[in-house]
Amino acid sequence: MRKQIGTLVTGSIMMMGLLGVASHAGATATVEVYKSPTCGCCAKWVDHMRDHGFTVNTHDVGNKEMRKKSGISESLGSCHTALVNGYAIEGHVPAPDIIRLLKEKPKAVGLSVPDMPHGTPGMEGARSDPYNVLLIKERNEERKDTTIYNRYDPHAKKAQTVQPAADAEKNSSVMRLK
Ligand code: CU
Ligand code: CU
Repeated sequence: MRKQIGTLVTGSIMMMGLLGVASHAGATATVEVYKSPTCGCCAKWVDHMRDHGFTVNTHDVGNKEMRKKSGISESLGSCHTALVNGYAIEGHVPAPDIIRLLKEKPKAVGLSVPDMPHGTPGMEGARSDPYNVLLIKERNEERKDTTIYNRYDPHAKKAQTVQPAADAEKNSSVMRLK
């Protein structure tokens, strides 16, 4: 009995240790960002990453070369390319998705938010559009072949909070169409 309790306590301590490591995954990683020296939205994304505990080194040399070298196709391109723990991150990808990537460690090239959607980290303003974070599994994969890693839809969120739970379930097929 005493041994069992001992094992339980040891198990809990180990679990807490693991959770601690997981929650600090972002804090310990260093990100190399390749961007244009004049782009304001890139600098704002760098701030967003630092706010989430990442150490960021910037390289003001543009990102076309590093994007190509990283195996990210033109169709997934955006304004900056970042390297972290062997992954490539293209564009205004939210930090929590990168922290999740580093925790889950999938076999992949990295993540991309192609173009520069309004409302992404570093692109905040009056307008917020829905956008997808895409998982790039193979080098030079085209945009249409990627997998949706996460989706942000400010409009859907609003609809969900306004609608009572019972109605939401009744209309779930309608809501999914949005
Ligand atoms: Cu940008
Ligand atoms: Cu940028």
